[in-house]
Amino acid sequence: MSHRRKFLQTSVTGAMALLLQRKALASVTLDKVPVINDPVVISTWDFGKAANAEAWKLLSTGGDVIDAVEAGVKVPEADPTNHSVGYGGFPDRDGKVTLDACIMEGTALNCGSVAFLENIVHPISVAKLVMQKTPHVMLVGEGALQFALANGFQKENLLTPESEKAWKEWLKTSQYAPVINIENQFKPVDPKQLPGGPNNHDTIGMLAIDKTGKMGGACTTSGAAWKMRGRVGDSPIIGAGLYVDGEVGAATSSGLGEEVIRTCGSHTVVELMRQGLSPEKACKNAVERIVNRNPERAKTLQVGFLALNKKGEYGAYAIHKGFTYSVKNGKEEKIYEAKAILT
Ligand code: GLY
Repeated sequence: MSHRRKFLQTSVTGAMALLLQRKALASVTLDKVPVINDPVVISTWDFGKAANAEAWKLLSTGGDVIDAVEAGVKVPEADPTNHSVGYGGFPDRDGKVTLDACIMEGTALNCGSVAFLENIVHPISVAKLVMQKTPHVMLVGEGALQFALANGFQKENLLTPESEKAWKEWLKTSQYAPVINIENQFKPVDPKQLPGGPNNHDTIGMLAIDKTGKMGGACTTSGAAWKMRGRVGDSPIIGAGLYVDGEVGAATSSGLGEEVIRTCGSHTVVELMRQGLSPEKACKNAVERIVNRNPERAKTLQVGFLALNKKGEYGAYAIHKGFTYSVKNGKEEKIYEAKAILT
């Protein structure tokens, strides 16, 4: 073989190798470009349906995922008949309504949170501003209120006559015993249910993908009814009540927050999805960790996880039956009941 022919052959082989290398690099780069998705939004409980519909108005018209989840969860926050979230939420044992909320986006992992916030109807909007306007992730109590007022929020009385009546009824026994799946039971409040079996709890967690493939989530609650003053649950804790990582997916929780905090529940679900589990299997595994640690105790409490992966697949699992979640995308608007470990 002549030197020239050998040179040409080597050059062609080299060029092909270079091309292949470039192609491989291109596909690596392409993988990182956000996939254009059909938007999807999912939320905990039946009341998530109305919240999803509000979020959908933005998602379906090209709105940003963070604006969408904020708009969505503001619906139950402002609903006085919802006694587990925002205005009209059941108070703590001292008769004060204290709110927890957080918001997170999955690209830069930006997040904001408020806890033990009083007198503000929309804690989720304050959490969003913590994310956008401060160098911090979390503000609590008096500081969170100060921040909200400095940013134009108005102080309001969140204790409705109905919630006050329920609290006074509860005071007759003053037993703290969160009721499983109370989120779907308290419309309308039946005071006869209250003595000794306090209406108690909980939360809306919402997860979404917008048209650009960006993921976000929001979680907001008035927490466990009749809780100790100062008690904060899982809902405002990034990694417990909510976690979003756009490379993988997002998860949120509802139920007894202490159990979710102990297990870093939502972060656990996302990490399990990162290892290849489907949203439903990841939620199941996270619930099993709680049940297996103390099966007797698990009989008396509810925790449910809800998850969405970056492909738009979703799933949920709970300790007990009765944990429902709402789904809205271009094809369906439905309420499902999650499978459960126990009856
Ligand atoms: N999951 C809400 C709470 O425990 O406060």
